[in-house]
Amino acid sequence: MKIVVGADHGGFLAKQTLIEHLQKQGFDVEDFGTDSEESCDYPDIAHEVAKAVAKGEFDLGILICGTGIGMSMAANKVPGIRAALCTDTFSARMARSHNDSNVLCLGARVTGPGLMLDIVDTYLKGSFAGGRHGIRVGKIETI
Ligand code: RB5
Repeated sequence: MKIVVGADHGGFLAKQTLIEHLQKQGFDVEDFGTDSEESCDYPDIAHEVAKAVAKGEFDLGILICGTGIGMSMAANKVPGIRAALCTDTFSARMARSHNDSNVLCLGARVTGPGLMLDIVDTYLKGSFAGGRHGIRVGKIETI
């Protein structure tokens, strides 16, 4: 599975922890930045990650900012992206199962490192249930 990750300065340290965690599990991970804790604009990173996922260059994307809110707002502007801000593992599972989410958004100032990695693991293990959920996701795409 090919995963692209991105963060702003608020999520930079969490992103580094995440990359190590994913690589240890054998995932193919690409890092779209940012590369330090220096202030930057989250929409720039969200746009690059979301475009790459929408083009099919990666299976899934993970975006981290302070709250995850800005990243999710920006990523969801890209057609074909279903970004889900998750702060718990149940939502992470449902985001894949019911919403066929393809970008996970996390808030490094909201969610601690242990829970964040559990959310990521749950999200990555998830799969889309299809059926009635497919009809609903299809309706999202027509908006
Ligand atoms: C940056 O200070 C902060 O606004 C950003 O990381 C994020 O929380 C935006 O939604």
